[in-house]
Amino acid sequence: MITGRTKLLAIIADPVTQVRTPQAMNAMLSDMGKDAVLVPVEVSREGLAAVVSGFRNIGNFAGVVVTVPHKTAVPPLCDTLSDRAIAAGAVNVIRRDAQGKLHGDILDGEGFTRGLDDAKISVTGMAVFLVGAGGAASAIAFALASRGPKKITISNRTRAKAQALSERLSESFPDVEFCVGDDPSGHDLAVNGTSLGMAPNDALPFDPAGLSSGSIVAEVIMQPEVTPLLAAAEQLGFATHGGRKMLQGQLSELAKFLTQNMEDTQ
Ligand SMILES: NC(=O)c1ccc[n+]([C@@H]2O[C@H](COP(=O)([O-])OP(=O)(O)OC[C@H]3O[C@@H](n4cnc5c(N)ncnc54)[C@H](OP(=O)(O)O)[C@@H]3O)[C@@H](O)[C@H]2O)c1
Repeated sequence: MITGRTKLLAIIADPVTQVRTPQAMNAMLSDMGKDAVLVPVEVSREGLAAVVSGFRNIGNFAGVVVTVPHKTAVPPLCDTLSDRAIAAGAVNVIRRDAQGKLHGDILDGEGFTRGLDDAKISVTGMAVFLVGAGGAASAIAFALASRGPKKITISNRTRAKAQALSERLSESFPDVEFCVGDDPSGHDLAVNGTSLGMAPNDALPFDPAGLSSGSIVAEVIMQPEVTPLLAAAEQLGFATHGGRKMLQGQLSELAKFLTQNMEDTQ
């Protein structure tokens, strides 16, 4: 039950109606015995700075999950950032401390690689084709790189962002080969890290017909559960890995991060 002692958490997005985090996180908070509630908050790009700054002044506000389109705009609005958030240039979760300071981190990559672990997919030694260079894709690239793949090829509509991501990754992971390119052939795992696939008329992020046999196709998109990319890949006989597994992979990490130092209820 929500009382005067309940801590507030939010997920900010635009649009916000498609998010699945509130139901999953509220169930998890309840299982953890936390007197806290997470609510959806629709925030436009124009309103983002004012809303985030306002969180500092809400005494019982504990933190916020950040999603599309705000992840790359939030880092300068935080007081501190984790190393991986700095490296990815994006934040998907902020914890507010008792002094009103905002601490940003990104757990998307951990969620994605945990989802692969759960499906018994090991990226060690793999060649990975990653489409996207936004917040989620950047975090995924860093988490994948830390698992020892042989190579990561990054493809993105805005090529300069793919190039910049590849350069940041090369500095942090000198043993992995990074390149920018649009040809998915010759890779063991192909990942859609873009928002393409959410809207019914979206183009495919890449053509799975170009993949080499035995490749696995993975998604970040959760809704629809079977995206046009996954459907096309399945039809061609490739193994697939849906976006829901990424959310499941990071929910417990998000809950742990957001409830650090949060007063227990009992
Ligand atoms: N399953 C999960 O748990 C989970 C977690 C986090 C995010 N996601 C999903 O991941 C997706 C990306 O989120 P994000 O935070 O990374 O967003 P973002 O920072 O806004 O990045 C969006 C990415 O998609 C690309 N893109 C967008 N529209 C495109 C188009 N019409 N054609 C080609 N490329 C396009 C962008 O390319 P440019 O750089 O050229 O703009 C960029 O690479 C979202 O759909 C989100 O729901 C899922």
